[in-house]
Amino acid sequence: MRPARGNMGAKGLRLEGKVALITGGGSGIGAGVAERFVEEGARVCITGRREQPLEAVVGRLPDGSACFCAGDVTCVDDVKRMVRRTISLGGAIDELVNNAGITGPSPVAEVDPDLWRRTIEVNLVGPFLTMHEAIPVMIRQGGGSIINVASVGGIRAIPGASAYCASKAGLIHLTRQVSTDYASRGIRCNAVCPGFVRTAMVETEMGVLAELLDTDREAAFAMVANNTPVGWIASPDDVAGIFTFLASDESRYMTGAKLVIDGGSSSLDPGTMVFRRGEAR
Ligand code: NAI
Repeated sequence: MRPARGNMGAKGLRLEGKVALITGGGSGIGAGVAERFVEEGARVCITGRREQPLEAVVGRLPDGSACFCAGDVTCVDDVKRMVRRTISLGGAIDELVNNAGITGPSPVAEVDPDLWRRTIEVNLVGPFLTMHEAIPVMIRQGGGSIINVASVGGIRAIPGASAYCASKAGLIHLTRQVSTDYASRGIRCNAVCPGFVRTAMVETEMGVLAELLDTDREAAFAMVANNTPVGWIASPDDVAGIFTFLASDESRYMTGAKLVIDGGSSSLDPGTMVFRRGEAR
């Protein structure tokens, strides 16, 4: 089914009139995407486990543009509530952003099996459940765009992060599967694979790296930035534009894709040193 060319609304905004459900929207990438979507004319329902951060994000956004629904993405009843709350905000779910996720050390022989299972539950079963509930709504309304937040860890191994990497690899493949199964119903499904984005999740990871290297967190951040071809670590705002693109009609012929957003890091062979023009004097 070829969609009508909607493009920008009367105000020149790329998501005017759209309604989005964003999981894990109380912090980090999810909060950045919620703010950008609203700037582009969408209304958003953000979800997360705790009310307070969700309330704070909604409080920063213009009246009527956002609401929140606290709940756990691994709980079927909570996910049903999230879907209902989004529909009560805007009568539709045009975009679903599966962003909620957790990470942590999980070397196979040492990790607590319950922790391993929980990572798969949140990062892979969670997106399955939200899609299971939201896709019928999208079918009824004639289409929609799903954005699954995977990771470069879903493409390459990250030392000691077996659960996280397996969950994200699974999510990339689930994305392809959904894109194939529902393209004829006007539903697109794409994955984004960020590298390092400076959020609470990465602050914790950098703390661990700093301890290993016997240095402080800022030095660890600087080391990673120096080994990233662009020379810096992204903020949520730096990656939000890709989400707008995938949510908008600009990407109407794109489905089943995985977009890497990592400042060039995964183009490097492991162990390669980054030299920047003008730095090696
Ligand atoms: P974050 O920790 O700020 O955000 C994760 C959000 O998910 C939080 O708001 C948290 O409340 C929510 N969440 C966790 N478990 C949940 C559950 N069971 N039910 C509902 N909500 C839950 O971290 P960040 O960095 O913004 O992460 C967002 C996504 O981006 C995650 O899926 C993460 O794996 C992915 N990602 C992040 C990267 C980074 O460098 N920050 C790199 C690659 C991927």
